[in-house]
Amino acid sequence: MIISSPTDYRTAAKRTLPRFLFDYIDGGAVTEKTMRANYDTLQNLHFKQRVLTGVGNPTLNTEILGQNWSLPFALAPVGATGLYARRGEVQAARSARRAGIPYTLSTVSVCPIEEVARKAGGNLWSQLYVLKDRGYMKNSLDRAWANGMKTLVFTVDMPTPGSRYRDRHSGMSGPIASLRQYLQALTHPRWALDVGLMGRPLSFGNIEAYKGQPMTMSDYMGFIGSNFDPSIRWQDLEWIRESWKGSLIIKGILDPEDAKDALRMGADGIIVSNHGGRQLDGAVSTTQALPAIVDAVGDRTTILADSGIRSGVDVARMIALGAKGVLLGRSYIYALAAQGEKGVSNLISLIAADLKVTMTLVGASTISDLTTSKLELL
Ligand code: FNR
Repeated sequence: MIISSPTDYRTAAKRTLPRFLFDYIDGGAVTEKTMRANYDTLQNLHFKQRVLTGVGNPTLNTEILGQNWSLPFALAPVGATGLYARRGEVQAARSARRAGIPYTLSTVSVCPIEEVARKAGGNLWSQLYVLKDRGYMKNSLDRAWANGMKTLVFTVDMPTPGSRYRDRHSGMSGPIASLRQYLQALTHPRWALDVGLMGRPLSFGNIEAYKGQPMTMSDYMGFIGSNFDPSIRWQDLEWIRESWKGSLIIKGILDPEDAKDALRMGADGIIVSNHGGRQLDGAVSTTQALPAIVDAVGDRTTILADSGIRSGVDVARMIALGAKGVLLGRSYIYALAAQGEKGVSNLISLIAADLKVTMTLVGASTISDLTTSKLELL
Protein backbone atom coordinates (compact mmCIF):
# COMPACT_ATOMS: atom_id res chain seq x y z
CA MET A 1 0.00 0.00 0.00
CA ILE A 2 1.20 3.52 -0.80
CA ILE A 3 1.69 5.66 2.29
CA SER A 4 1.03 9.33 1.61
CA SER A 5 -0.16 10.59 4.97
CA PRO A 6 0.39 9.73 8.64
CA THR A 7 -3.12 8.29 8.95
CA ASP A 8 -2.51 5.81 6.11
CA TYR A 9 -0.51 3.79 8.63
CA ARG A 10 -3.67 2.96 10.54
CA THR A 11 -5.11 1.23 7.46
CA ALA A 12 -1.81 -0.52 6.82
CA ALA A 13 -1.58 -1.73 10.44
CA LYS A 14 -5.10 -3.09 10.25
CA ARG A 15 -4.03 -5.29 7.35
CA THR A 16 -0.87 -6.51 9.03
CA LEU A 17 -2.02 -7.28 12.57
CA PRO A 18 -4.34 -10.00 13.84
CA ARG A 19 -7.61 -8.40 14.84
CA PHE A 20 -7.12 -8.77 18.61
CA LEU A 21 -3.91 -6.74 18.44
CA PHE A 22 -5.17 -4.07 16.05
CA ASP A 23 -8.24 -3.52 18.21
CA TYR A 24 -6.15 -3.49 21.38
CA ILE A 25 -4.17 -0.57 19.95
CA ASP A 26 -7.02 1.17 18.17
CA GLY A 27 -9.68 0.91 20.87
CA GLY A 28 -10.55 2.90 23.95
CA ALA A 29 -12.63 2.50 27.09
CA VAL A 30 -16.31 1.50 27.08
CA THR A 31 -18.17 3.55 24.39
CA GLU A 32 -14.90 5.21 23.26
CA LYS A 33 -16.53 8.63 23.61
CA THR A 34 -13.48 10.21 25.23
CA MET A 35 -11.20 8.64 22.65
CA ARG A 36 -13.25 10.21 19.85
CA ALA A 37 -13.47 13.52 21.75
CA ASN A 38 -9.67 13.64 21.75
CA TYR A 39 -9.63 13.79 17.94
CA ASP A 40 -12.78 15.87 17.50
CA THR A 41 -12.00 18.67 19.92
CA LEU A 42 -8.44 18.92 18.63
CA GLN A 43 -9.69 19.14 15.04
CA ASN A 44 -12.07 21.90 16.11
CA LEU A 45 -9.24 24.22 17.07
CA HIS A 46 -8.84 26.72 14.27
CA PHE A 47 -5.76 28.69 13.31
CA LYS A 48 -5.54 32.29 12.21
CA GLN A 49 -4.17 32.19 8.70
CA ARG A 50 -1.63 35.01 8.30
CA VAL A 51 -0.06 36.02 4.99
CA LEU A 52 3.19 37.67 3.93
CA THR A 53 4.68 37.33 7.40
CA GLY A 54 8.19 36.65 6.15
CA VAL A 55 8.68 33.63 8.42
CA GLY A 56 11.30 32.13 6.12
CA ASN A 57 12.20 28.56 7.00
CA PRO A 58 10.67 27.72 10.42
CA THR A 59 12.90 25.85 12.88
CA LEU A 60 11.34 22.91 14.67
CA ASN A 61 13.83 22.26 17.46
CA THR A 62 13.00 23.10 21.04
CA GLU A 63 14.40 22.77 24.55
CA ILE A 64 12.41 20.77 27.08
CA LEU A 65 13.59 20.01 30.64
CA GLY A 66 17.08 21.08 29.63
CA GLN A 67 17.13 18.58 26.75
CA ASN A 68 17.44 19.52 23.09
CA TRP A 69 14.72 17.99 20.95
CA SER A 70 15.03 18.27 17.16
CA LEU A 71 11.25 18.23 16.94
CA PRO A 72 8.63 19.21 19.53
CA PHE A 73 7.28 15.70 19.98
CA ALA A 74 8.36 12.46 21.65
CA LEU A 75 7.24 8.84 21.38
CA ALA A 76 4.83 7.88 24.20
CA PRO A 77 5.12 4.70 26.30
CA VAL A 78 3.04 1.93 24.75
CA GLY A 79 2.82 -1.44 26.46
CA ALA A 80 3.74 -4.63 24.62
CA THR A 81 5.20 -2.74 21.63
CA GLY A 82 7.23 -5.84 20.80
CA LEU A 83 3.96 -7.61 20.00
CA TYR A 84 3.23 -5.29 17.08
CA ALA A 85 6.62 -5.65 15.38
CA ARG A 86 9.59 -7.88 16.15
CA ARG A 87 11.54 -6.40 19.11
CA GLY A 88 9.36 -3.33 18.45
CA GLU A 89 10.69 -1.22 21.30
CA VAL A 90 14.20 -1.33 19.85
CA GLN A 91 12.94 -0.43 16.36
CA ALA A 92 10.87 2.53 17.60
CA ALA A 93 13.69 3.77 19.85
CA ARG A 94 16.13 3.68 16.93
CA SER A 95 13.80 5.84 14.83
CA ALA A 96 13.47 8.29 17.72
CA ARG A 97 17.24 8.45 18.18
CA ARG A 98 17.75 9.12 14.47
CA ALA A 99 15.17 11.91 14.57
CA GLY A 100 16.68 13.44 17.73
CA ILE A 101 13.60 13.00 19.91
CA PRO A 102 12.92 11.02 23.13
CA TYR A 103 11.54 7.50 23.18
CA THR A 104 9.64 6.36 26.28
CA LEU A 105 9.92 2.71 27.24
CA SER A 106 6.80 1.29 28.93
CA THR A 107 6.83 -0.63 32.22
CA VAL A 108 5.17 -3.47 30.33
CA SER A 109 7.53 -3.71 27.38
CA VAL A 110 8.59 -6.86 25.58
CA CYS A 111 12.21 -5.68 25.30
CA PRO A 112 13.85 -4.98 28.66
CA ILE A 113 15.51 -1.67 29.50
CA GLU A 114 18.98 -3.18 28.97
CA GLU A 115 18.21 -4.37 25.42
CA VAL A 116 16.77 -1.03 24.32
CA ALA A 117 19.69 0.88 25.83
CA ARG A 118 22.24 -1.42 24.19
CA LYS A 119 20.66 -1.74 20.74
CA ALA A 120 19.07 1.69 20.28
CA GLY A 121 20.41 4.31 22.74
CA GLY A 122 19.47 7.95 22.24
CA ASN A 123 17.38 10.03 24.63
CA LEU A 124 15.57 7.15 26.35
CA TRP A 125 12.87 7.89 28.91
CA SER A 126 11.58 5.27 31.30
CA GLN A 127 7.89 4.92 32.19
CA LEU A 128 6.70 3.42 35.44
CA TYR A 129 3.21 2.56 36.65
CA VAL A 130 2.06 2.86 40.25
CA LEU A 131 2.32 -0.76 41.36
CA LYS A 132 1.96 -2.47 44.73
CA ASP A 133 5.27 -4.26 44.38
CA ARG A 134 7.72 -1.60 45.55
CA GLY A 135 10.58 -3.98 44.91
CA TYR A 136 9.69 -3.96 41.22
CA MET A 137 9.39 -0.19 41.14
CA LYS A 138 12.72 0.31 42.89
CA ASN A 139 14.38 -2.26 40.65
CA SER A 140 13.04 -0.47 37.55
CA LEU A 141 14.33 2.90 38.75
CA ASP A 142 17.78 1.44 39.43
CA ARG A 143 17.97 -0.35 36.08
CA ALA A 144 16.75 2.71 34.16
CA TRP A 145 19.37 4.93 35.81
CA ALA A 146 22.14 2.38 35.34
CA ASN A 147 21.27 2.25 31.63
CA GLY A 148 21.54 5.99 31.10
CA MET A 149 17.88 6.95 31.32
CA LYS A 150 17.64 10.37 32.94
CA THR A 151 13.90 11.05 32.65
CA LEU A 152 11.17 9.13 34.44
CA VAL A 153 7.56 9.23 33.28
CA PHE A 154 5.40 8.20 36.19
CA THR A 155 1.92 7.27 34.99
CA VAL A 156 -0.83 7.87 37.52
CA ASP A 157 -4.06 7.43 35.55
CA MET A 158 -4.16 3.64 35.79
CA PRO A 159 -5.09 2.74 39.39
CA THR A 160 -7.02 -0.03 37.65
CA PRO A 161 -7.11 -0.94 33.96
CA GLY A 162 -9.96 0.71 32.01
CA SER A 163 -12.90 -1.33 30.74
CA ARG A 164 -12.19 -2.11 27.11
CA TYR A 165 -15.18 -3.75 25.44
CA ARG A 166 -13.40 -3.98 22.10
CA ASP A 167 -10.79 -6.28 23.63
CA ARG A 168 -13.51 -8.70 24.65
CA HIS A 169 -15.17 -8.57 21.23
CA SER A 170 -12.00 -9.18 19.32
CA GLY A 171 -10.39 -11.86 21.47
CA MET A 172 -7.69 -9.95 23.37
CA SER A 173 -9.58 -10.97 26.49
CA GLY A 174 -12.82 -12.81 27.23
CA PRO A 175 -13.89 -16.38 26.49
CA ILE A 176 -11.54 -18.69 24.55
CA ALA A 177 -9.18 -15.76 23.93
CA SER A 178 -6.13 -17.97 23.26
CA LEU A 179 -7.92 -20.02 20.62
CA ARG A 180 -9.26 -16.91 18.91
CA GLN A 181 -5.81 -15.30 18.94
CA TYR A 182 -4.28 -18.42 17.45
CA LEU A 183 -6.86 -18.54 14.64
CA GLN A 184 -6.43 -14.85 13.89
CA ALA A 185 -2.66 -15.30 13.75
CA LEU A 186 -3.10 -18.01 11.11
CA THR A 187 -4.82 -15.52 8.80
CA HIS A 188 -2.01 -12.98 9.28
CA PRO A 189 1.03 -15.06 8.30
CA ARG A 190 3.41 -12.13 7.96
CA TRP A 191 2.82 -11.13 11.58
CA ALA A 192 2.72 -14.76 12.74
CA LEU A 193 6.13 -15.46 11.23
CA ASP A 194 7.86 -12.18 11.94
CA VAL A 195 6.61 -11.54 15.47
CA GLY A 196 4.80 -14.64 16.63
CA LEU A 197 7.56 -17.10 15.80
CA MET A 198 10.74 -15.04 15.53
CA GLY A 199 10.15 -12.27 18.07
CA ARG A 200 9.69 -14.18 21.34
CA PRO A 201 6.67 -11.91 21.84
CA LEU A 202 5.41 -13.53 25.00
CA SER A 203 8.39 -12.53 27.05
CA PHE A 204 7.79 -9.34 29.01
CA GLY A 205 11.41 -8.41 29.46
CA ASN A 206 11.22 -5.82 32.20
CA ILE A 207 9.25 -8.02 34.53
CA GLU A 208 11.38 -11.06 33.67
CA ALA A 209 14.53 -9.11 34.44
CA TYR A 210 13.13 -8.43 37.90
CA LYS A 211 11.79 -11.90 38.56
CA GLY A 212 14.87 -13.53 37.10
CA GLN A 213 12.82 -16.17 35.32
CA PRO A 214 10.82 -16.49 32.07
CA MET A 215 7.20 -15.39 32.26
CA THR A 216 4.31 -17.11 30.61
CA MET A 217 1.41 -14.96 29.39
CA SER A 218 -0.60 -16.02 32.44
CA ASP A 219 2.28 -15.20 34.85
CA TYR A 220 2.42 -11.80 33.23
CA MET A 221 -1.34 -11.22 33.43
CA GLY A 222 -1.22 -12.38 37.06
CA PHE A 223 1.61 -9.97 37.92
CA ILE A 224 -0.14 -7.00 36.30
CA GLY A 225 -3.61 -7.93 37.57
CA SER A 226 -2.53 -8.21 41.18
CA ASN A 227 -0.28 -5.17 41.13
CA PHE A 228 -2.47 -2.20 40.26
CA ASP A 229 -3.46 -0.51 43.48
CA PRO A 230 -6.37 1.93 43.65
CA SER A 231 -5.65 2.70 47.31
CA ILE A 232 -2.36 4.53 46.63
CA ARG A 233 -2.35 8.28 47.38
CA TRP A 234 0.07 11.11 46.56
CA GLN A 235 1.71 10.83 50.00
CA ASP A 236 2.59 7.20 49.32
CA LEU A 237 4.70 8.29 46.38
CA GLU A 238 7.08 10.72 48.01
CA TRP A 239 9.73 8.01 48.10
CA ILE A 240 9.76 7.98 44.28
CA ARG A 241 10.91 11.61 44.21
CA GLU A 242 13.54 10.84 46.81
CA SER A 243 14.79 7.77 44.93
CA TRP A 244 14.99 9.35 41.45
CA LYS A 245 17.77 11.85 40.75
CA GLY A 246 16.69 12.64 37.20
CA SER A 247 13.70 14.56 35.81
CA LEU A 248 10.34 13.32 37.03
CA ILE A 249 7.27 13.76 34.85
CA ILE A 250 3.79 12.81 36.05
CA LYS A 251 1.63 11.42 33.24
CA GLY A 252 -2.15 11.28 33.23
CA ILE A 253 -3.20 14.68 34.60
CA LEU A 254 -6.54 16.18 33.50
CA ASP A 255 -7.41 18.37 36.49
CA PRO A 256 -5.68 21.57 37.70
CA GLU A 257 -5.82 20.39 41.33
CA ASP A 258 -4.00 17.17 40.40
CA ALA A 259 -1.46 19.25 38.50
CA LYS A 260 -0.81 21.22 41.70
CA ASP A 261 -0.46 17.97 43.68
CA ALA A 262 2.07 16.71 41.15
CA LEU A 263 4.14 19.85 41.69
CA ARG A 264 3.85 19.46 45.46
CA MET A 265 5.24 15.95 45.06
CA GLY A 266 8.27 17.53 43.39
CA ALA A 267 7.56 16.76 39.73
CA ASP A 268 9.60 18.60 37.10
CA GLY A 269 6.81 18.33 34.55
CA ILE A 270 3.41 16.85 33.80
CA ILE A 271 1.78 15.19 30.83
CA VAL A 272 -1.83 16.21 30.33
CA SER A 273 -3.30 12.94 29.13
CA ASN A 274 -6.33 10.70 29.34
CA HIS A 275 -4.30 7.71 28.16
CA GLY A 276 -5.68 8.10 24.64
CA GLY A 277 -9.25 7.60 25.92
CA ARG A 278 -8.39 4.15 27.27
CA GLN A 279 -9.18 4.79 30.94
CA LEU A 280 -12.15 6.94 32.06
CA ASP A 281 -14.76 7.00 29.34
CA GLY A 282 -16.66 10.28 29.64
CA ALA A 283 -13.56 12.18 30.81
CA VAL A 284 -12.84 15.44 29.00
CA SER A 285 -10.44 15.47 26.08
CA THR A 286 -6.94 16.77 26.64
CA THR A 287 -7.71 19.76 24.42
CA GLN A 288 -10.55 20.64 26.77
CA ALA A 289 -8.45 20.08 29.90
CA LEU A 290 -5.22 21.82 28.86
CA PRO A 291 -6.11 25.57 29.12
CA ALA A 292 -7.17 25.44 32.81
CA ILE A 293 -4.03 23.45 33.69
CA VAL A 294 -1.82 25.94 31.85
CA ASP A 295 -3.51 28.75 33.80
CA ALA A 296 -2.98 26.94 37.10
CA VAL A 297 0.64 25.78 36.82
CA GLY A 298 1.99 26.77 33.39
CA ASP A 299 4.40 29.35 34.82
CA ARG A 300 5.84 26.86 37.33
CA THR A 301 6.38 23.65 35.40
CA THR A 302 6.84 22.01 32.00
CA ILE A 303 3.53 20.91 30.51
CA LEU A 304 3.43 18.25 27.81
CA ALA A 305 0.25 16.74 26.36
CA ASP A 306 -0.91 13.74 24.37
CA SER A 307 -4.05 11.91 23.18
CA GLY A 308 -5.55 12.25 19.73
CA ILE A 309 -2.53 13.75 17.92
CA ARG A 310 -2.37 12.34 14.42
CA SER A 311 -0.63 14.97 12.27
CA GLY A 312 1.77 17.88 12.22
CA VAL A 313 -1.24 20.20 12.22
CA ASP A 314 -2.40 18.56 15.47
CA VAL A 315 1.07 18.99 17.00
CA ALA A 316 0.90 22.71 16.19
CA ARG A 317 -2.62 22.95 17.62
CA MET A 318 -1.70 21.38 20.98
CA ILE A 319 1.42 23.54 21.33
CA ALA A 320 -0.49 26.70 20.42
CA LEU A 321 -2.99 25.77 23.14
CA GLY A 322 -0.22 25.77 25.75
CA ALA A 323 1.77 22.50 25.70
CA LYS A 324 5.57 22.87 25.47
CA GLY A 325 5.72 19.63 23.51
CA VAL A 326 3.57 16.58 22.80
CA LEU A 327 3.75 12.80 22.72
CA LEU A 328 2.62 10.56 19.89
CA GLY A 329 0.90 7.32 20.87
CA ARG A 330 -1.09 5.24 18.42
CA SER A 331 0.14 7.12 15.36
CA TYR A 332 3.68 5.76 15.65
CA ILE A 333 2.47 2.33 16.75
CA TYR A 334 0.43 1.95 13.54
CA ALA A 335 3.53 2.91 11.54
CA LEU A 336 5.66 0.42 13.48
CA ALA A 337 3.17 -2.40 12.94
CA ALA A 338 2.99 -1.64 9.21
CA GLN A 339 6.64 -1.00 8.36
CA GLY A 340 8.79 -1.33 11.47
CA GLU A 341 11.60 1.13 12.10
CA LYS A 342 11.36 2.52 8.55
CA GLY A 343 7.66 3.23 9.07
CA VAL A 344 8.24 5.10 12.34
CA SER A 345 11.01 7.18 10.74
CA ASN A 346 8.78 7.99 7.79
CA LEU A 347 5.88 8.89 10.09
CA ILE A 348 8.13 11.27 12.05
CA SER A 349 9.23 12.93 8.78
CA LEU A 350 5.65 13.28 7.53
CA ILE A 351 4.53 14.87 10.81
CA ALA A 352 7.55 17.19 10.88
CA ALA A 353 6.90 18.29 7.29
CA ASP A 354 3.25 19.14 8.00
CA LEU A 355 4.23 20.95 11.17
CA LYS A 356 6.62 23.12 9.17
CA VAL A 357 3.98 23.97 6.57
CA THR A 358 1.47 24.81 9.33
CA MET A 359 4.00 27.08 11.05
CA THR A 360 4.69 28.86 7.77
CA LEU A 361 1.00 29.47 7.14
CA VAL A 362 0.33 30.85 10.62
CA GLY A 363 3.48 32.96 10.66
CA ALA A 364 5.50 31.10 13.32
CA SER A 365 9.29 31.01 12.83
CA THR A 366 10.03 28.99 15.95
CA ILE A 367 8.16 26.58 18.21
CA SER A 368 7.91 29.28 20.88
CA ASP A 369 5.98 31.44 18.39
CA LEU A 370 3.18 28.86 18.52
CA THR A 371 1.01 30.49 21.17
CA THR A 372 -2.73 31.01 21.63
CA SER A 373 -2.34 34.17 19.54
CA LYS A 374 -2.15 31.85 16.53
CA LEU A 375 -5.57 30.34 17.31
CA GLU A 376 -8.92 31.69 16.23
CA LEU A 377 -11.05 31.35 19.34
CA LEU A 378 -14.49 30.90 17.76
C1 FNR B 1 -0.88 3.14 25.85
N1 FNR B 1 -0.53 4.11 26.79
C2 FNR B 1 0.33 3.79 27.83
N2 FNR B 1 0.73 4.74 28.71
C3 FNR B 1 1.61 4.44 29.69
O1 FNR B 1 1.97 5.33 30.47
N3 FNR B 1 2.13 3.17 29.80
C4 FNR B 1 1.78 2.16 28.96
O2 FNR B 1 2.27 1.04 29.07
C5 FNR B 1 0.82 2.47 27.96
N4 FNR B 1 0.38 1.48 27.11
C6 FNR B 1 -0.43 1.79 26.04
C7 FNR B 1 -0.76 0.80 25.12
C8 FNR B 1 -1.52 1.13 23.99
C9 FNR B 1 -1.83 0.07 22.99
C10 FNR B 1 -1.92 2.48 23.78
C11 FNR B 1 -2.68 2.88 22.54
C12 FNR B 1 -1.62 3.45 24.70
C13 FNR B 1 -0.97 5.51 26.61
C14 FNR B 1 0.00 6.29 25.74
O3 FNR B 1 1.23 6.51 26.39
C15 FNR B 1 -0.56 7.67 25.33
O4 FNR B 1 -0.96 8.37 26.48
C16 FNR B 1 -1.75 7.58 24.37
O5 FNR B 1 -1.54 6.57 23.42
C17 FNR B 1 -1.95 8.91 23.67
O6 FNR B 1 -3.07 8.89 22.86
P1 FNR B 1 -3.04 8.60 21.28
O7 FNR B 1 -1.94 9.43 20.67
O8 FNR B 1 -2.81 7.16 21.13
O9 FNR B 1 -4.41 9.01 20.83
